[in-house]
Amino acid sequence: MSDTPAPYATIAAAPFTEAERAAVYRAIYERRDMRHFAAGIVPEDVLLRLLRAAHHAPSVGFMQPWRFIRVKKPELRQAIHALVEEERVRTAHALGEREEDFMKLKVQGVLDAAEVLVVAMPPGREAHIFGRRTLPEMDIASTACAIQNLWLAVRAEGLGMGWVSIFEPKALARLLHMPEGAHPLGVLCLGPVDAYYAEPMLQQEKWACRAPLEDMLMDDVWTEGPPAA
Ligand SMILES: Cc1cc2nc3c(=O)[nH]c(=O)nc-3n(C[C@H](O)[C@H](O)[C@H](O)COP(=O)(O)O)c2cc1C
Repeated sequence: MSDTPAPYATIAAAPFTEAERAAVYRAIYERRDMRHFAAGIVPEDVLLRLLRAAHHAPSVGFMQPWRFIRVKKPELRQAIHALVEEERVRTAHALGEREEDFMKLKVQGVLDAAEVLVVAMPPGREAHIFGRRTLPEMDIASTACAIQNLWLAVRAEGLGMGWVSIFEPKALARLLHMPEGAHPLGVLCLGPVDAYYAEPMLQQEKWACRAPLEDMLMDDVWTEGPPAA
């Protein structure tokens, strides 16, 4: 059988200019996870642009498993903040000897950010088998792609965003009346910032640092040894 190309519509895509290419890399390198926010708002048109950017993420089998809940009620924000605080303490205990160091870290800006968006996946994900039969976690991977799109667009808009995942998902699902089977993946704090951290905050706090790229690369087969005990 001949391998004739399928009649897919294409566009004559113009190459990125040097400045456009630089802007893409700039957004990638200057994106930061932010936990300190300034006063001010995110204009509605900007928020919509950001959510559109998130919604244009790739997804397994074009599943689009992301749902966004914009938290508007102050009492819900307070309750989310409290959930994060509860889990922060549990996480600290679980960390053992790093408990004290962890408790010094700022891990959320839920009460300070102009906007709080909760990202969750809908129920019924098991019906999506394309690309998930052996890797069901590809729904999470897809939702993470949407969040990363949002994160980069936020930086390009001159705003900041923090991804908070320190919470008990069932408790957050209950709080926001999510249906059985829905699964929250993040509380996104988003808004104006006075300045961006010059490098990841966890690096500045000496919690961890970016590993050299060479340590992440292997040729042909897995050659990395077991982690040091
Ligand atoms: C899936 C995911 C969950 C995260 N959860 C939290 C969180 O709960 N609290 C927090 O302070 N940072 C959280 N972060 C942000 C990371 O700490 C941050 O990405 C990392 O330290 C590197 O810093 P950078 O994003 O500024 O490059 C999360 C990031 C990702 C990708």
